[in-house]
Amino acid sequence: MRRVAGVLAWAMLGSAAGAQFSSVVDSPHNLSTSGPGAIRATSEEEVCIFCHAPHNSTPIRPLWNRAMPLEAYTVYTSRALDAEPGQPTGDSKMCLSCHDGTIALGAVASRSMPISMMGGVTTMPVGAGLIGTDLRDDHPISFRFDAGLAATDPKLRHPAQLPPEIRLDVNSEMQCTTCHDAHNNARGKFLVLDNTSSQLCTSCHQVGTTTITEHQDCNACHQPHSAPSGPYLLRSATVADTCLNCHDGAHGAVDIASVLRRASVHETFEGVDQPDPYQQHATCSDCHEPHTMSHGTGTAPVIHDNFGRVKGVSSSGVLLAAANYEYEVCFRCHAEGATVQPYLPRRIVQNNTRHEFSPTAVSFHPVAGPGRNPDVPSLKPGWSEASVMYCSHCHGTDNAGAGMGPQGVHGSNFRPILVANYDMADHTSESAQAYALCYQCHDRASILNNDSFSGHRRHIVEERTPCSACHDAHGISSLQGNATNNSHLINFRTDIVFPEPSTGRLEFRDTGANSGTCTLRCHGENHLDERYPD
Ligand code: HEC
Ligand code: HEC
Ligand code: HEC
Ligand code: HEC
Ligand code: HEC
Ligand code: HEC
Ligand code: HEC
Ligand code: HEC
Ligand code: HEC
Ligand code: HEC
Ligand code: HEC
Repeated sequence: MRRVAGVLAWAMLGSAAGAQFSSVVDSPHNLSTSGPGAIRATSEEEVCIFCHAPHNSTPIRPLWNRAMPLEAYTVYTSRALDAEPGQPTGDSKMCLSCHDGTIALGAVASRSMPISMMGGVTTMPVGAGLIGTDLRDDHPISFRFDAGLAATDPKLRHPAQLPPEIRLDVNSEMQCTTCHDAHNNARGKFLVLDNTSSQLCTSCHQVGTTTITEHQDCNACHQPHSAPSGPYLLRSATVADTCLNCHDGAHGAVDIASVLRRASVHETFEGVDQPDPYQQHATCSDCHEPHTMSHGTGTAPVIHDNFGRVKGVSSSGVLLAAANYEYEVCFRCHAEGATVQPYLPRRIVQNNTRHEFSPTAVSFHPVAGPGRNPDVPSLKPGWSEASVMYCSHCHGTDNAGAGMGPQGVHGSNFRPILVANYDMADHTSESAQAYALCYQCHDRASILNNDSFSGHRRHIVEERTPCSACHDAHGISSLQGNATNNSHLINFRTDIVFPEPSTGRLEFRDTGANSGTCTLRCHGENHLDERYPD
């Protein structure tokens, strides 16, 4: 304390020993009448007095000259937080004695009357400097940042590795003064370290190394104070709004905002910090981990580079901290506990896509592994019986490849978020457009030429039966179906196909390569062990 008294005395004499602290003179913290900012005293000439006084100050070091605020703060919290911030302590309370807006700026211990400020200012006016008493939207402070915390959260650097400019207090606690120096505004905002390339943030956080240049600046998505999201300190109230600040078509980044206005979408508007697992809605960070995503193209089913290290559920149902395949990301919400119900009513009802696409399923589109059928004559060049595909080969922006919008399972005018038109109404007239989704990979001529099922043309063209009446686009789980009744993705729709009246049976029987029988009633006609080829 003696040292501060000495420095204060030296500073007033303008000597060299005070130089270290005299930089406050040219900063917004010079609240004397000669200060550079708008907030300053009407006539008070002393600079240090707003915070320190050699005599009649409080017993708090360093010669603190202000009343300390009450412990009435709401502190930062989030589900991901490992630290345990308490009520502000130490130096932070000193800063908050002005910045929380509860104590007059001019109220100092060494004077009986508050120092009068220009423009009638008393407490910190609303604006840049006001932090308030609600600290839920500010970077957490007043918690121990020690080896234990770094061990709990591997995305933190060890505190012993901090650059010398960044200091914790005597109790290893992080405070306002870890990032700020009230006396030195050389870098702006009283920062202890320049933060133009996020050096300040990355001194402590190692959240990932995204290669997307525009995502490398923490400030692109975060702000350390008054963050509209609260938890995670995002620049907008929700994750999606934060991303759409740029991905809105007006800021040079790929436009996602416009596809989110299409008829069928992932509703991404949900607030931040939902419980985990959360399956009510998906937001951007459920598929794209912001800190680890990168540019690049993947091969199905390998996870997209622009997903980064995102959570998932494996084909065998194991929770994964980092998914390896695209479908594992989808299984987080479209498998156990799925909230989305089957789009069409079918004989076998299933909305757990993990079961539908399991490599042990009866028949399935090859997502989690190659399919079951060794002879699929309709496949177009580029596809074979050994191929594996993404969910996003069928689900995503309508007409994405054709320059109509971005890749990705965001939104489409074709329900349910399909990349191309797929008419599901009964009595649909066949056309290239009606079943455009299937004809992306299956040759229309081959199907209508009856290359596999001898009744394809009659049913699809003449009887105007949609593909979906007979085929389930996903697959049939072996928990429910079997290889006789459900090969070839056969899982009849119960709103188009009915039991055969005399037997009550609704059944397909596979009787070998390109042959089978059907017992059912459809379009007013009864089939009783009707066989193909006939
Ligand atoms: C706006 C408030 C504010 C003003 C004005 C201010 N200080 Fe400080 N000062 C602080 C705070 C807060 C601390 C304690 C945290 C820290 O060490 O940075 C402090 C600490 C100090 C210390 C102790 C540093 C140490 O390392 O222990 C000295 C010496 C000091 N100030 C000198 C001065 C001098 C001289 C002036 C005037 C030229 C001045 N301060 C003006 C807020 C202020
Ligand atoms: C005596 C009151 C007082 C104390 C104590 C105080 N400040 Fe300030 N601070 C101010 C005022 C007044 C401003 C100017 C606000 C404005 O112009 O809107 C300011 C501005 C700032 C700014 C913004 C600077 C800029 O360039 O815009 C930062 C950052 C800041 N203070 C941090 C701190 C920190 C950290 C502490 C504690 C170590 C602290 N302040 C202590 C009164 C105080
Ligand atoms: C983790 C580092 C960190 C901590 C801890 C921190 N700040 Fe800041 N603060 C910053 C950064 C970085 C900025 C500059 C933000 C910008 O330029 O957009 C800033 C800006 C400010 C500003 C200027 C207004 C604004 O919103 O930009 C004030 C005032 C401020 N801080 C006060 C405080 C106070 C008071 C505390 C303690 C309660 C504190 N800071 C704790 C990093 C921090
Ligand atoms: C001195 C070290 C340090 C600096 C500098 C720092 N942070 Fe932190 N930050 C921490 C620690 C420690 C935590 C608590 C982490 C935890 O418990 O999970 C934290 C928490 C956070 C959180 C909340 C995490 C959660 O799980 O809710 C965000 C967001 C954050 N920091 C962003 C930033 C940004 C952006 C910057 C740069 C402006 C920054 N930090 C600078 C150490 C630092
Ligand atoms: C492209 C936007 C974006 C950028 C850039 C970004 N973040 Fe984040 N960050 C987010 C989002 C969104 C979340 C919330 C994630 C969620 O929903 O769980 C988050 C969460 C966090 C968290 C808390 C959760 C965790 O992973 O521990 C920390 C800490 C964090 N970010 C620090 C940083 C730092 C440090 C930087 C700069 C190196 C940075 N972020 C850059 C978007 C971003
Ligand atoms: C500061 C502006 C900005 C913000 C905020 C932002 N981005 Fe970006 N993002 C870009 C730019 C610019 C690119 C590179 C050009 C492009 O691909 O759009 C990009 C690229 C991407 C890519 C594509 C990478 C590739 O090559 O495949 C994804 C995915 C992405 N951002 C997702 C997000 C998500 C999710 C968020 C929110 C957590 C977000 N972005 C926030 C500017 C931003
Ligand atoms: C975090 C949870 C979550 C994740 C991860 C997720 N979804 Fe969804 N999905 C939903 C929810 C919830 C809906 C219902 C619409 C809404 O509220 O967003 C939905 C809707 C859909 C729909 C439209 C269904 C309909 O009947 O309208 C499709 C198709 C879809 N998701 C596919 C996918 C694919 C493919 C993936 C993986 C790339 C995926 N989803 C990842 C939660 C998720
Ligand atoms: C071959 C194209 C195709 C593939 C691959 C595909 N889907 Fe679908 N999906 C559809 C079609 C078509 C529908 C409409 C319902 C139907 O046909 O039964 C649908 C319906 C859905 C629905 C609505 C609910 C339901 O069960 O009907 C969700 C959710 C969904 N798909 C998610 C996924 C996920 C997750 C994946 C990857 C694991 C995936 N889809 C792979 C074509 C596909
Ligand atoms: C259900 C999962 C899911 C959600 C939620 C999601 N995306 Fe995507 N996104 C994808 C997929 C799949 C791709 C395509 C990946 C590929 O093919 O490289 C993609 C691609 C992108 C691209 C690159 C598009 C292109 O054509 O280059 C951007 C940018 C993007 N997403 C941003 C966002 C933003 C912003 C949000 C939130 C509003 C969001 N995504 C939500 C799954 C998702
Ligand atoms: C992205 C490419 C792609 C799309 C789109 C696609 N398929 Fe397929 N389909 C395949 C591949 C690859 C196979 C081969 C799997 C195998 O060998 O078992 C296949 C196989 C099939 C089979 C035979 C399955 C079996 O076990 O015999 C049927 C039936 C089928 N598809 C129907 C459809 C229908 C109906 C649509 C439209 C909703 C569709 N497909 C869309 C790629 C696709
Ligand atoms: C009336 C029921 C029915 C309708 C409607 C139907 N299919 Fe099929 N489809 C079958 C049967 C049965 C098989 C199995 C033939 C066999 O035994 O190999 C089959 C086989 C297939 C195959 C696998 C063999 C091949 O040809 O490559 C594909 C692909 C296929 N159908 C696509 C479609 C598409 C696309 C539509 C709509 C345009 C459609 N189907 C409409 C009953 C139907």
